[in-house]
Amino acid sequence: MNIRIFPDSQTGSVYAAAIVEYVIKSLPSPVLGLATGSTPIPLYEELVRFHKRGLSFAHVTTINLDEYVGLSASHPQSYHHFMYRHLFQHVDVRPDRTFIPDGSASDLAAECARYDDVIRNHPIDIQILGIGVNGHIGFNEPDSALKAHTHVVRLAKETIAANSRFFKPGEAVPVEAITMGLQSILLAKQILLLAFGEEKAEAVANAVYGDVRTSSPASVLQLHPNVTFVLDEAAAKLVLEREQAQASGSAR
Ligand code: F6R
Repeated sequence: MNIRIFPDSQTGSVYAAAIVEYVIKSLPSPVLGLATGSTPIPLYEELVRFHKRGLSFAHVTTINLDEYVGLSASHPQSYHHFMYRHLFQHVDVRPDRTFIPDGSASDLAAECARYDDVIRNHPIDIQILGIGVNGHIGFNEPDSALKAHTHVVRLAKETIAANSRFFKPGEAVPVEAITMGLQSILLAKQILLLAFGEEKAEAVANAVYGDVRTSSPASVLQLHPNVTFVLDEAAAKLVLEREQAQASGSAR
């Protein structure tokens, strides 16, 4: 696991964008695994800037991690809408090459199976991840067992609370989502996990240190050979404290 610590989210996002740009430029048909939420927004802004300076997305395929159950693609808080607003409308990616689970499907089991076929047919070259305050990746929530493939998940109460900041007061916040499973995430050739802000510090430390465990779904990333955590100093707080303690211990 590589850990890169930056002074702030902006410089971390520029670093992540440069890695994504390299993948887009170096492969004939790059497949990007994408995340939503507040964390990757500066990364997408940077990619849009790269596009304005000539980076083409015409040969790119994108596969998103998740979508809320019960929201149509046109709902302003759906992840379809998020991706359109923050990335797709600003670049030349082909709409038929952007994949997001359909949270409004009448048969959700069939939709999960369809999405697993999409992932199988488009092996992901680089997966962008955020991390929940409880250590979820995608919406693979801490539980007694973890799931390999795309599935419908009941969101944890801390996830619903965190997501509620995007909804208007009084508006119903979704309690279920369709999410890619952990095997699909781990099959990506390269993974960049972005975490910014002190509220992520504990989830990051739990992912990086200790055993792989279901109480910290992000800890499964320890099993992957090419993962980079891109952190600001606040999200890296516990990592830095541990490094300092180790350094002063070995200096004694
Ligand atoms: C979103 C996703 C989630 C978020 C996580 C962090 O597609 O898969 O795992 O990355 O909930 O969300 P933010 O970035 O809003 O803190």
